[in-house]
Amino acid sequence: MVRIGPITLGDFPLLLAPMEDVSDPPFRAVCKQEGADLMYTEFIAAEGLIRDAVKSVEKLDIYDYERPIGIQIFGENIESMREAAAIAEEAQPEIIDINYGCPVKKVACKGAGAGILLDLPKMQAMTKEIVERVKLPVTVKTRLGWDENTIKIIEVAQRLQDVGIQALTIHGRTRKQMYKGVANWDYIAEVKNHPQIHIPIFGNGDIDSPEKALDYKNKYGVDGVMIGRAAIGYPWIFREIKHYLKTGERLPPPTMLERVAIAKQHLDFSVRWKGERKGIFEMRRHYTNYFRGIQDFKTFRTRLVESDSAYEISDILDEVAEKFHGYFSQERLAVNF
Ligand SMILES: Cc1cc2nc3c(=O)[nH]c(=O)nc-3n(C[C@H](O)[C@H](O)[C@H](O)COP(=O)(O)O)c2cc1C
Repeated sequence: MVRIGPITLGDFPLLLAPMEDVSDPPFRAVCKQEGADLMYTEFIAAEGLIRDAVKSVEKLDIYDYERPIGIQIFGENIESMREAAAIAEEAQPEIIDINYGCPVKKVACKGAGAGILLDLPKMQAMTKEIVERVKLPVTVKTRLGWDENTIKIIEVAQRLQDVGIQALTIHGRTRKQMYKGVANWDYIAEVKNHPQIHIPIFGNGDIDSPEKALDYKNKYGVDGVMIGRAAIGYPWIFREIKHYLKTGERLPPPTMLERVAIAKQHLDFSVRWKGERKGIFEMRRHYTNYFRGIQDFKTFRTRLVESDSAYEISDILDEVAEKFHGYFSQERLAVNF
């Protein structure tokens, strides 16, 4: 049983990755429904929370059915991070998560996100202040290092554990790699198997199928896996992995009706949460994946992403359901997903 402070997470939890502009309440709702065990908000700027900036504060919105959930914060200033953690705590999540992994220039080059991997004493001091400031368990998500010459992930894990973090997620790439190449899980396994590391270690990077999840579980011995990109437009990845781990068998892919139902639910929540214009705009990135594998989907996709009326989109989705009814039924399992 994996535990983070008082939270129990089952034997091999599946975590939904924090993803900017993706891991919002509408997206999290569908991932939770399909089996995500622990979810995080997208990262929230410490400075934004302190300034009470609307964009940052609205990211604190969490709903009871999402629990357990972590709020992720990032920033380069220790004092701001400490205060932002306290503000995030008031939103009553189960976990405060610190982002030490963001590779984006405007974050990392200022010393926040993965930038802090170049200054481990500061990283440790910042973490200590946050752990002491809040009552909730604090977790960290990070990368292997800044680049291939500065991989000190064991030292990072030890320093963080020493100041009281209660779980660590490691994305098996360096900052320099951004999202390129293949995530290197050997380093993640080294941390997990290190005799002095006893906090849960979650592996992250490139999990995109039930087979890979099982293979990585066995090969690298991590306490759970975090899934990001593979869940975008395909929240069923969680239930598929769970089923495969339990039975060794693949679930049939979601049917057409399920896909349409989830797409509609996601759209509806997006529009209610963000307003029609923004909700519709942000849904556009999800359609291709929801209907991945359908030949001849292109014309529908074009109509879906060009429409700016939620009613019209809903009607187009009904047309999709009708035209491709049965497309993902059992007989078509020969299609390679
Ligand atoms: C669109 C996008 C936004 C992301 N935003 C965040 C973020 O806010 N915080 C964070 O810790 N990682 C963020 N990440 C990194 C993911 O959490 C994850 O570490 C990475 O995508 C690798 O996992 P995957 O191969 O399962 O996608 C983001 C990734 C993507 C693709």
